[in-house]
Amino acid sequence: MQTQVGIIGGGPSGLLLSQLLHLAGISSVMLERRSRAYVLGRIRAGVLEQGFQDLMRRAGAAQRMERDGQVHGGVNIAYQEDRLRIDLEGLTGGKTVMVYGQTEVTRDLYAARDALDGVVIDEAEQVMPHGLEGDRPYLTFVKDGAAERLDCDFVIGCDGFHGVSRSVIPADRLQSFERVYPFGWLGVLSATPPVNEELIYARHDLGFALCSLRGPQLSRYYLQCRADENPDNWSDERFWARLKTQLPAEVAARLVTGPALEKSVAPLRSFVAEPMRWGRLFLAGDAAHIVPPTGAKGLNLAASDIHYLSSALIDWYKRGDSAGLDSYSARALARIWKAERFSWWMTALLHRFPENEGFGNRIQRAEFDYLMSSKAAQTALAENYVGLPY
Ligand code: FAD
Ligand code: PHB
Repeated sequence: MQTQVGIIGGGPSGLLLSQLLHLAGISSVMLERRSRAYVLGRIRAGVLEQGFQDLMRRAGAAQRMERDGQVHGGVNIAYQEDRLRIDLEGLTGGKTVMVYGQTEVTRDLYAARDALDGVVIDEAEQVMPHGLEGDRPYLTFVKDGAAERLDCDFVIGCDGFHGVSRSVIPADRLQSFERVYPFGWLGVLSATPPVNEELIYARHDLGFALCSLRGPQLSRYYLQCRADENPDNWSDERFWARLKTQLPAEVAARLVTGPALEKSVAPLRSFVAEPMRWGRLFLAGDAAHIVPPTGAKGLNLAASDIHYLSSALIDWYKRGDSAGLDSYSARALARIWKAERFSWWMTALLHRFPENEGFGNRIQRAEFDYLMSSKAAQTALAENYVGLPY
């Protein structure tokens, strides 16, 4: 089997890239380890920056997003009983975010790939890249028990944090930076009307809580939990009771509860691997970096990587120009580190840290009080939340 660009991983990064390349007349084959049903069943991000939305439009996959996505011009931060609305739109000269689930994004991108007869090989096992330091790399994998080989010009690692791509880069050619937080998020999806039209990020002495949404009758809530928490230990009753305690009383009073449609725990981590290229292998999205979800930046960073990488590959194929490929890692990392900083800052402001009980708590409170009183501080938050320019 042969193609121009071999893509490992069929999450949002791989899907967006293969679609943008296809529209520029460049062929690709995407190898995904899981079944399509599994990939489409994952519930993850919910907030899309303008840059992500623009990429969906360029990919020709934005129809449903335009119809069902909710434009949000503000976001709320609560600290115990105090509440602050950050006027994203007013503070950024009209920028907004869109609430539209990653599950739907993935569904739309698969539909767009199918409509163009894009080649997606799912349940591809033992995917392994080879020859990355030469100019004829290839991928080997097993499909339905048979060994297969895919020859290509470039291999793109879009296979998430636990994928194979990053692990084939020799240790002396890759530097990793990591912070693992001593807690996770317990998420619940419920078929209930959202407690608030806009998101509420809440910091309480018992820990962090987030009220998010997917639609007029679909809510997504998160609670800070132990990193190794078993979601089965959380009955629906226990979850709702705890959430009510951690929200300001006037918000808790409006909370409509119902059976959890899904309940899962996500650990929190900051991680960056540098550089994002080794020979003919390029990393994009979660394969190269992870942010804690507090700033809603993970999926959006995948989109900026794909923006840089797709235009670099198009320049190479259309004009033989390798400048974009050569500067890809540095360009992407410049934006990634700013999003890492913002996500780390939001996480530090809003969570309960076991080691923080005295001094650290007072600093968190001072940070929130400063935010309440300073338009400059609110503007900095708003500018980062809507997404820094590409
Ligand atoms: P992934 O989505 O991880 O896709 C990688 C794909 O590669 C997967 O389909 C996987 O099965 C496949 N794969 C792995 N290994 C192999 C292999 N060896 N061979 C072949 N295929 C392989 N981000 C935001 O921007 N906003 C948010 O609000 C937000 N909230 C989040 C909430 C939670 C609870 C979580 C967990 C994440 C959240 N994120 C958020 C982060 C976001 O979900 C990720 O950043 C995003 O999924 C990254 O996309 P990706 O395509 O790079 O990686
Ligand atoms: C979500 O809706 O899943 C969501 C929203 C905002 C975040 C993280 C997750 O910061």
